[in-house]
Amino acid sequence: MVKVAVLGAAGGIGQPLSLLVKLNAKVDELALFDVVNVPGVGADLGHINSDSKTQSYLPSSKEDKTALAAALKGSDIVIIPAGVPRKPGMTRDDLFNINASICQGLAEGIAENSPKAFVLVISNPVNSTVPIFAETLKKKGVYDPSRLFGVTTLDIVRANTFISQLFPQDTKPSDFNVRVVGGHSGETIVPLYSLGSTKKYYGELNEEQKKALIHRVQFGGDEVVQAKNGAGSATLSMAYAGYRLAEQILKAVSGETGIVECTYLNLDSKIKGAAEAKTLVNGLDFFSLPVVLGKDGIEEVKYDILNEVNDDEKKLLQVAIDQLSKNIEKGVAFATK
Ligand code: NAI
Repeated sequence: MVKVAVLGAAGGIGQPLSLLVKLNAKVDELALFDVVNVPGVGADLGHINSDSKTQSYLPSSKEDKTALAAALKGSDIVIIPAGVPRKPGMTRDDLFNINASICQGLAEGIAENSPKAFVLVISNPVNSTVPIFAETLKKKGVYDPSRLFGVTTLDIVRANTFISQLFPQDTKPSDFNVRVVGGHSGETIVPLYSLGSTKKYYGELNEEQKKALIHRVQFGGDEVVQAKNGAGSATLSMAYAGYRLAEQILKAVSGETGIVECTYLNLDSKIKGAAEAKTLVNGLDFFSLPVVLGKDGIEEVKYDILNEVNDDEKKLLQVAIDQLSKNIEKGVAFATK
């Protein structure tokens, strides 16, 4: 019996993401929680003839905690696209104050009602909201770093698509699985194109093309914000990316081994390889790296790729590390104040 809860299920990301989860045969129960419009989403998805049960939960007032508690009770996986999206001219950090409080409230709900769940954080700024989840769960005495995931999958999805678009004759986006490390905001996003399946193609680009490609991955979200012209940020591609990570976790939970995905995680020494990774990223507590997924969460951090990067990527990593350190501090300060 697998239960998945989506918090922020009536939003631009929440709706298509809930649809994708609804279609996954490994899911027995789908709990939809939001502070608006969620009964409609629940009724709509509930008509789909996949076998999972769908329930929606709407609080009756700002003070009502029972709806969130009911949505979370018994959940194995909690996916969180709750919050406010970016508007034109807004950076992810502008969102901080609103989304930080929302995330803190939801983390408290998780601590009380589903402390053993896998927690997948989509709400921006991910670089800071994930530390808020960690600190809030820690305060409540239920924190397990191997079950907390900052969703940076959209950066991987974009990195795969954008390099393939440069070689349309020879490649498809699905040929690639670029290792994108660091964080999830502008220059904290570091696609390691010099490694693995993209090495050959990346090597054929000139310096200007390489720079443009990396910039496009780092600021790909802006293309969507501008094209939507005031109507929000990435929702459909984000729903796909969030689902991709959730799907890998669902497979791991049901016993499939050897699954490796990049995620923004707490480099806590309880996790194999995390201490080594932390040394390589100047002592940062959170960083996105490939991880091995298991039944109980993150089993191992694959930090070795950080030793394989070229000199240009080393420079990109240093910029990312400097920015991330401030982003992480901001989240920790908010949650521990
Ligand atoms: P949206 O505004 O369409 O949806 C957000 C939903 O969250 C709304 O339905 C809202 O009612 C709900 N919500 C607000 N407070 C809540 C609470 N306390 N509990 C439960 N639900 C609550 O926004 P959209 O476009 O779906 O974006 C959601 C978040 O995802 C934003 O923070 C956005 O910046 C972030 N995002 C993250 C990406 C990533 O790669 N990690 C990419 C794109 C967006």
